[in-house]
Amino acid sequence: MQAFALALATLSFLSILSPSPASAASGKDALLVERGKYLAQVAGCNDCHTPGYMQNEGKVPENLWLTGADVGFQGPWGTSYPVNLRLYLNKMSEAQWIARARQPMRPPMPWYNLREMSDKDLLALYRYVRFLGPAGDPAPVAVAPGQPVATPYVEFVPKNLPLDKQASR
Ligand code: HEC
Repeated sequence: MQAFALALATLSFLSILSPSPASAASGKDALLVERGKYLAQVAGCNDCHTPGYMQNEGKVPENLWLTGADVGFQGPWGTSYPVNLRLYLNKMSEAQWIARARQPMRPPMPWYNLREMSDKDLLALYRYVRFLGPAGDPAPVAVAPGQPVATPYVEFVPKNLPLDKQASR
């Protein structure tokens, strides 16, 4: 009985040690990494940058998070692909990231939301993605309007607009 209790105690101790952002990093770093994970979830980054995230209502193993998508979004801007952030941020310094995050990107990337993020939150996202480490393959390169597209894509164009709205598009 005592041995059993000891085994249980050991198990629960080990589960405390199992890797999660909060336990693997320490102190202030752990808080930033945890915040970055939270932002990836609630600021929508996973929705587009994690394969199958929308389709599976967020049930995608964390090791696949932010590895990019090979289904494009097509509209007047051509065809764009959510980049593999795990590879992308691995090649960037924190300062480069904070500068890049404030610049325009092709639709439907909501770059104007990223522009409004505080430096601290941008840093948290960066630290979280670096904590996860590089994984996956690069997403396909964007295709210019009218050029042939070799991958699956979603057509991101409003349909059935009233005539007066069509003119302004
Ligand atoms: C609606 C889908 C969508 C959402 C939500 C989204 N992205 Fe994107 N993201 C894209 C697409 C598509 C591209 C490719 C844009 C391009 O080709 O310029 C992209 C590109 C990027 C790039 C790369 C820009 C470059 O230099 O090439 C970064 C960085 C990025 N997204 C970060 C984020 C972060 C961080 C979040 C969450 C706050 C986020 N994205 C949310 C679709 C999305």
